[in-house]
Amino acid sequence: MQRIIKDFHSEMKKGLAGSKSSLKMIPEYVERPSGKEKGEFLALDLGGTHFRVLSLRLKSGRKTEAPLSKKFILKKELIKGSGSKLFDFIAECIKAFIAEQKLGAGEKYNVGFTFSFPTKKKNIASGLLIRWTKGFKAKGVEGKDVVRLLNSALARKGVSNTKVVAIVNDTVGTFVTRSYKDPNCDMGVILGTGTNACYCEKIKNITKWKGGRTSSGEMVINIEWGNFDKLCLTAYDKQLDSASANPGEQILEKMVSGMYLGKLAGLVANSLIEQEILFNGQKKYIFCKSKNFKSEYASAIESDTSGKLSRTNTLLKKVGIKNSTYADRKLLQRVCAIVSRRAARISASAMAAVITKIDPHLSGKHTIAVDGSVYEKHSGFSKKIKSALIEIFKKKASKIKLKLTKDGSGKGAAIIAATV
Ligand code: GLC
Repeated sequence: MQRIIKDFHSEMKKGLAGSKSSLKMIPEYVERPSGKEKGEFLALDLGGTHFRVLSLRLKSGRKTEAPLSKKFILKKELIKGSGSKLFDFIAECIKAFIAEQKLGAGEKYNVGFTFSFPTKKKNIASGLLIRWTKGFKAKGVEGKDVVRLLNSALARKGVSNTKVVAIVNDTVGTFVTRSYKDPNCDMGVILGTGTNACYCEKIKNITKWKGGRTSSGEMVINIEWGNFDKLCLTAYDKQLDSASANPGEQILEKMVSGMYLGKLAGLVANSLIEQEILFNGQKKYIFCKSKNFKSEYASAIESDTSGKLSRTNTLLKKVGIKNSTYADRKLLQRVCAIVSRRAARISASAMAAVITKIDPHLSGKHTIAVDGSVYEKHSGFSKKIKSALIEIFKKKASKIKLKLTKDGSGKGAAIIAATV
């Protein structure tokens, strides 16, 4: 963990200087919210298995009304087809939401767009997609300004009462949502389908920045830490990487996030099956091309406390393993626990690196806003992160608070839209 922290610091510095680095360190054109944001805004959230539209009313005194929202499933054909089809679908969802919520036809809504992919920004309202991650492949989008693509789709679908005024990463939305209420918050983290973080950096430290001073002298930086690659890979990591949609990229993400944790546990199990250590020589694989060993399964197996691991047995039957012994199930449970423990320790090291970049001696208090299915739901994950932070910082770990910030990517985008 100490080695990861050291390498992370060095990659962060290089990224901030604009030199070659696995960390992109993207200036997001966003500062901490002032608390004066007011009005009704729309927010869009694209970046995982669903697309979401929300409307949120911000009131004075840093208060918000409960948001109205609707989720739409993103089918495989959409994320792997043509970009214009994907954006047409998004525009149709927005149109349906506006009609369903009876939002005033005569009014113009400012929209905050959470786009959770590495995006190069020239200002708050434009973002060029650098590269798709998390299995997205829609053609004709990489290198293009996604706000433009969305605006053209909205025009094609006849939606005229919206204006996309801000595009932000989901980590930034999460950070802004928490720091709206908590002045100690200086970092936002996503541990979900993908993983990434942002933090507040002093302008003087962003040596590649040419944009002049900001009012606070700070700027939120999207680290894109999923791409950090100074890590020791096992044979399983290499196997997973070479079979992925983006070999050689997003190495940390492939060891940590929900899209891959189940696959990794599955690959380890497959190797034990191959060596006839697991399932008594029956060559039945729990994970292969046609079968996905989901991260949810790995989490359920890890947390199984039922007698003889009977819940794991039911789950294994579901994935086609009819006969397993208690020893098999115990071994599989251990595999799942090791995979998630490593993921939590890598995440904790990356968090520790960012916090010590901001405050090397941990003199102040720090809140880390965290969202995502792995942090929220994966068995014992948040506890494992906390114990790794204690291992790193000893008593001083109490200065760091991790706060689950649900729906940050929706609310935060609306708050940011209100600052524009
Ligand atoms: C991937 C994306 C990143 C996003 C993260 C969490 O790593 O590249 O932009 O923040 O997933 O959704």
